[in-house]
Amino acid sequence: MEVIIVNNAELAAKKAALIYKRLINEKPTAVLGLATGSTPLKLYSELVKMYENSEIDFSRVTTFNLDEYVGLPEGDKNSYRFFMDENLFDKINIDKKKTHLPSGNVDDVNEHCAEYDAKIKHAGGIDLQLLGIGADGHIGFNEPTSSLTSKTRIKTLTKQTIADNARFFGGDPEKVPTHAITMGIGSIMESNMVILLAFGKNKAGAIKAAVEGPVSAMVPASILQMHPNVKVIVDLDAASELELRQYYQWVYERKPDWQKDA
Ligand code: PGA
Repeated sequence: MEVIIVNNAELAAKKAALIYKRLINEKPTAVLGLATGSTPLKLYSELVKMYENSEIDFSRVTTFNLDEYVGLPEGDKNSYRFFMDENLFDKINIDKKKTHLPSGNVDDVNEHCAEYDAKIKHAGGIDLQLLGIGADGHIGFNEPTSSLTSKTRIKTLTKQTIADNARFFGGDPEKVPTHAITMGIGSIMESNMVILLAFGKNKAGAIKAAVEGPVSAMVPASILQMHPNVKVIVDLDAASELELRQYYQWVYERKPDWQKDA
């Protein structure tokens, strides 16, 4: 795990965006695993800017999102499909047919989930998976005690996650769906490379547990310690509980320049 500590979320987004630019320029057919929530917003704005400046061509890129709420009507503004269209897909030259999210409105959920994993495989697997982290250590909607080898499936949200996400539903936790379809932890671990972003004090405990705690299903993000190519990019607040904070900074300052956007 490489831990990169930056002064603020803007710098983190810029740093992450350079990794996307390099990847897509090297592999125009790259397969991206994408995430929703507040965390990736600045990164998506950077990617839109890069597209507008002709620095990235998304026309041959394929995407798979981590998750989708179950039961929201199609086109609902709280659906993750709506979020992705609004914050990224409608602002770049991506082919919408190449953008995938699980559907929260299918008759046979199990079949749909198996198909989602099969589509990822068929696309050649995910080159770069983007993750946020929940205050409870979840990745996607893989809540504490999720199987660390799980595939895409339906999960029940914890009360903490419902409370955290109520802000998108006018502050009313009753309006937050209780279920979501999420890529599994095993599916996430199959990606070639992972970038985990986290900002703010309320993520500090989860980051500490994920990076420096024991690998445990109680902190799903801790499994990333077993992945060979993970960058954890955090602001000073999210890094504030890391015991080896200074060491990570020392390591990063000594990286050769050519490695920094790799
Ligand atoms: P957030 O959510 O980006 O809205 O903080 C992250 C997550 O729950 O994975």
